[in-house]
Amino acid sequence: MDNISYNETDFENRILAPEYVGADDGEIETSLRPRTLSEYIGQDKAKENLSIYMQAAKKRGEPLDHVLLYGPPGLGKTTLAGIIANEMGTNLRVTSGPAIEKPKDLASLLSNLNEGDVLFIDEIHRLSHSVEEVLYPAMEDYCLDIIIGQGPAARSIRLDIPHFTLVGATTRSGQLAAPLRDRFGVLLRLELYTPEQLADIVERSAGKLNVPIDRDGALEIASRSRGTLRIANRLLKRVRDVAQVIDDGVITADVAGRALDRFEIDELGLDEFDRKMLTTIITMYGGGPVGLETLAAAVGDEAVTIEDVYEPYLMQIGFLNRTPRGRCVTRAAYEHLGIDTDDLQTTLF
Ligand code: ADE
Repeated sequence: MDNISYNETDFENRILAPEYVGADDGEIETSLRPRTLSEYIGQDKAKENLSIYMQAAKKRGEPLDHVLLYGPPGLGKTTLAGIIANEMGTNLRVTSGPAIEKPKDLASLLSNLNEGDVLFIDEIHRLSHSVEEVLYPAMEDYCLDIIIGQGPAARSIRLDIPHFTLVGATTRSGQLAAPLRDRFGVLLRLELYTPEQLADIVERSAGKLNVPIDRDGALEIASRSRGTLRIANRLLKRVRDVAQVIDDGVITADVAGRALDRFEIDELGLDEFDRKMLTTIITMYGGGPVGLETLAAAVGDEAVTIEDVYEPYLMQIGFLNRTPRGRCVTRAAYEHLGIDTDDLQTTLF
């Protein structure tokens, strides 16, 4: 399998960064991944639909139609692709948009697939236009248009490739070229997990890792994981370390709470960066509205990272609004941060 690599420095080692796959996350994620839909916790709507489409495809003896998974990072998109391959009884090939640099890279990937295989392309919105052009006939007609020769002597031949299922994942379906989006028969949106779902996932992971934990301990980790599965599993490992060294190894709510306080992750799962972003909007822009690019420059991060990684959770908990005029911090965020709201323009609320 091709590895999907992320640049650690992009995320400044942020323990809460869902994209950054840390040194032991690869191993932990692989060993904890469910292999069947029934083991997969949450995402009920996506699961129900997927189950029907897979059963129907199996009944017809055909590969599943191409699937686009979209939603914030760290919710289990790669896992879902693995489940699709497993449930359809086929192989999974994993790659990512940035890893496919040239049309010939994609052509060689596609021509090496077996009938029915699942090809998972993470960050599919980052495919170049020339690579997308190769993908269209492959998705639609299972063929590759190859140009042989150069200049006036050049001619095009069509090569058949195996019937495969493309599973594309993106954090931003809006950024996908329309002709690419239109070629997916199945569109599934993944949502942030509820604390209860995340607690179920933490308990399941703890069981697999032989880490003793009670329900309240799992809930404490879950409620500080920003609705994100990858963060919950990472925090579980770090809390386990603290529990083993400082306490008796059992993760209770008290043990988890103290460990997470040590990492400066507050009761709502906000870390230093979230607090910095909210306080920057408050102190420099009177609580907003402030444009995304201006905000990105002020906090020293990229606009896309702010948009994809930090904002979904802050919006979900009602701390931030995206308005046509820019980002606005809400009264609830002021209260959480312990900042006086007296000086604010009331129109913001
Ligand atoms: N690993 C990745 N996604 C998962 C999920 N939804 N439930 C359990 N384990 C997972």
